[in-house]
Amino acid sequence: MVYLNGNFIEKDQAYVSVMDRGFLFGDGIYEVFPAYNRKIIGLDSHLNRLQDGLDAISIKNPHSKDEWKNLINKIISFDSINENQAVYLQISRGSDKNRKHTYGELKPTVFIQSSVIKLREKSTLLNGLSAITREDIRWLKSDTKATSILANTLYAQEAKNNDAEETILYRDGIVTEASSSNVFMVKDKCLFTHPKGPNILPGVTRKKTIECAKASNLKVVESRFTKQQLMEADEVWVTSSTREILPITSIDGIEISNGCAGPIWSLVYDQYQLLK
Ligand code: PDD
Repeated sequence: MVYLNGNFIEKDQAYVSVMDRGFLFGDGIYEVFPAYNRKIIGLDSHLNRLQDGLDAISIKNPHSKDEWKNLINKIISFDSINENQAVYLQISRGSDKNRKHTYGELKPTVFIQSSVIKLREKSTLLNGLSAITREDIRWLKSDTKATSILANTLYAQEAKNNDAEETILYRDGIVTEASSSNVFMVKDKCLFTHPKGPNILPGVTRKKTIECAKASNLKVVESRFTKQQLMEADEVWVTSSTREILPITSIDGIEISNGCAGPIWSLVYDQYQLLK
């Protein structure tokens, strides 16, 4: 079952108009809420970011926080088997009579669905994962979780084509984030990640990872670092709601951290598991 504009219906019965601006222009905002044991990590942070995104593109939020929470919990409850789910929520500006770039007052289209999260065991992650790098040519509003993420999908596909977990992005030599995750590096026991701003999505997992690192008495610095520094890091991680904290041990075919997940990753990973 999915939710579409006020109704819970079967997914194969859920349709939107071809005039929907989400379809025509990617004109919308989305969120992904991770539910572990049916409980969402960072629910309010996700709802706040949803509000920020809607404000950024001038769509009126169609629901209160409590209404969203009820809808999300209901969607989670429909799957009686899987305890770990990713709830996808999308609000597009709505559909108009004709296709035109500009818009007036429209009724937003609201869609919510849930899919299963399948996490890898820690024992598997200890072997590490690989990434490739690419120049970040996206627009400078990457802090808005807009549905128009063609560049991100192409980067993700490039990673897949190269049997890699992620594509790590850099702009003018500075590491920004990855195709669908934030990037961290460890150097001399200190954790670094790009500061919040127009170049990166302010990831909720990023925020939780920073909190977990601080709870483990680690020093965290939100400052820019270069691709060169990334390649010389002691550890590299990527973080996202659906993949938690992943150790990257090979970048562009070059070994990082002796090819194994590092001890600081292990520490913060364990701390993150306590959030569930
Ligand atoms: N993506 N950066 C980008 C570009 C992302 O798309 C995501 C998440 C993140 C991590 O954000 P968070 O920790 O809040 O999930 C960073 C989601 C999972 C997606 O598009 O499916």
